[in-house]
Amino acid sequence: MTTHPDDSFSPPVGEWYPPSPDMLNSALIKNYEQVYHESLTDVEAFWAKQAEKLDWFEPWTQVVDRSNVPFYRWYVGAKTNIAYNALDRHVKTWRKNKLALIFEGEPGDKQTYSYHKLYREVNKFANVLKSMGVKKGDRVTVYMGRIPELIMAMLACAKIGAVHSVVYGGFSEHALADRIEDAQSRVVITCDGAWLRGNIVKLKDIVDEAVRRSPIVESVIVVKRTGHEINMEQGRDYWYHDLMALPIASPICESVQMDAEDPLFILYTSGTTGKPKGILHTHGGYQVYTSTTLSWVFDLKDEDRYWCAADPGWITGHSYIVYAPLIVGATEIVYEGAPNYPYPNRWWKLVEEYSVSVLYTAPTAIRGLMRFGDAWPNRHDLSSLRLLGSVGEPINPEAWRWFYKVIGKERCPIMDTWWQTETGGFMITPLPSVPLKPGSATRPFPGIEVDVVDDKGEVCPPGTDGNLVVKGPWPGMARTIYGDPDRFVSQYWSQYKEQGWYLTGDSARRDEDGYVWVIGRNDDVIKVSGYRLGTAEVESGLVSHASVAEAAAIGVPDEVRGNVIYAYVILRAGQQPSEDLRDALKEHIRHEIGPIAVPSKIEFVTTLPKTRSGKIMRRVLRARALGQPEGDLSTLEE
Ligand code: WT7
Repeated sequence: MTTHPDDSFSPPVGEWYPPSPDMLNSALIKNYEQVYHESLTDVEAFWAKQAEKLDWFEPWTQVVDRSNVPFYRWYVGAKTNIAYNALDRHVKTWRKNKLALIFEGEPGDKQTYSYHKLYREVNKFANVLKSMGVKKGDRVTVYMGRIPELIMAMLACAKIGAVHSVVYGGFSEHALADRIEDAQSRVVITCDGAWLRGNIVKLKDIVDEAVRRSPIVESVIVVKRTGHEINMEQGRDYWYHDLMALPIASPICESVQMDAEDPLFILYTSGTTGKPKGILHTHGGYQVYTSTTLSWVFDLKDEDRYWCAADPGWITGHSYIVYAPLIVGATEIVYEGAPNYPYPNRWWKLVEEYSVSVLYTAPTAIRGLMRFGDAWPNRHDLSSLRLLGSVGEPINPEAWRWFYKVIGKERCPIMDTWWQTETGGFMITPLPSVPLKPGSATRPFPGIEVDVVDDKGEVCPPGTDGNLVVKGPWPGMARTIYGDPDRFVSQYWSQYKEQGWYLTGDSARRDEDGYVWVIGRNDDVIKVSGYRLGTAEVESGLVSHASVAEAAAIGVPDEVRGNVIYAYVILRAGQQPSEDLRDALKEHIRHEIGPIAVPSKIEFVTTLPKTRSGKIMRRVLRARALGQPEGDLSTLEE
């Protein structure tokens, strides 16, 4: 399945945006072609050189161990800790006094953290976790809103060698329980609630439900954010502020010496089956990869104010809010709430007030804000901006141009970064010195080789769609699927086993200039508002409802959200289609997976188009939904 927000997707031929002389002058990397070429002549030397910019307790003996493909090991033998590189090393320098975080809550409350303050708070919380029996290698589930304590919780886990599993606050109790079970977390960190569009999302209530289903949980730590009445269970639930006031919460805590390959976190993402995959990343390679990509692509300087508007609960937030910006010593903005609350100028107001110079967001947010018109951004001074970024799905040229003209005032290049939960960091992306074409993520990052190939591995000629693959390992790559190494191999490394290439699951094409145009997923994954959902997840969610016999879900293009979900449902004998049942099914999905997975349309049907082997032909459903020709139906068993 390939979907693109622009119905007639074709590259805007000849539309080039070369870098400005100013940008070329100031950019950290001025000559992409040369750096790229050099990086590939000795890729291990290249990654060794980048790693040397960080602190290691003990050096590596080998840059990458290729003896057990695809289970590559990076910086073999080295000892390190990503939290040490993000915090401890800065407080030994002048950066101790630099602002690390500038936080604004949706209600308008403000907080700032210097590197020194953040370091102390993280140390205190790390000591709290230790006192609760959390040890190196233990998994801790984090389910919170976008507040500083979320970032501190992740860093505190890393500091003591615990493995965090952050579950996005938009997931339901069911999805949360599944992820707690899979990771076998005995500790959950949450907050009472989160502010969203002036309402409270009652996170602690959801945790209570999830913990009822996952008896493995022994302790729940609760940050007070919204202050509404919640249930606190004696002997299980603890207020964060109470724990942080105990003598045990000392502001001194050594970062545990981790092996470079020790796990840092698990992050669940959707794939082709109903069961989410726990993507595992490690301390050593991930810290090198995320910090190098961030500083080169967003050209971060000490005087920048960087704002990645994603949620820390997704990979974008893990890599480019929590870890990389702190490793490179940046000052960053964190905003809790919705972009259009209370008015559609909220983001532009933040840019002006905090003098944001680098803004990194997603096409769906750009399209959403674009809908409100130019007057909202035009009321604000956006002259502090110098670089923009986009991630999550292909950006349609119309949204690109609006972002470029109305927000960036034709001064700010847009870094359209293509990557995945599994890749850890940017893979195909411009650097500020690369000429841009709206809608193309341009060229691979130095050290990365990608290609567009057919099912057999033959290179597709320019202009032809094929499978996007990555040739060869990179430090930020996922190490495995937690608890399921076989699935890791079969999912990503089996189709091109002989060649040893990584299968991304995306389709793409190259143009005559070697620019990559990512078209979309070509597996059963749908991008809804940039969020990744599996059709199988939505289908099994629907089928778990007592009235449903069978279900099929597809992605259909949507102007703002990129794609939305349409679901086709066959009811069990004796069940009647009705508006009430439709609402009940939507409510059911809200509880099974979360609000992001709720289909925008549910159609009751009596048959589904299937192949003779019983596979649902989603292609046919899509064609029907869009009123397009249904194509080759020779394999259809009606
Ligand atoms: C999928 C990965 C990586 C952080 C957020 C998403 C799509 C991501 C782009 C882009 C075109 C993109 C791909 C990819 N995608 N960025 N710049 N242009 N498509 O991470 O949830 O793991 O999703 O997002 O389809 O496979 P994710």
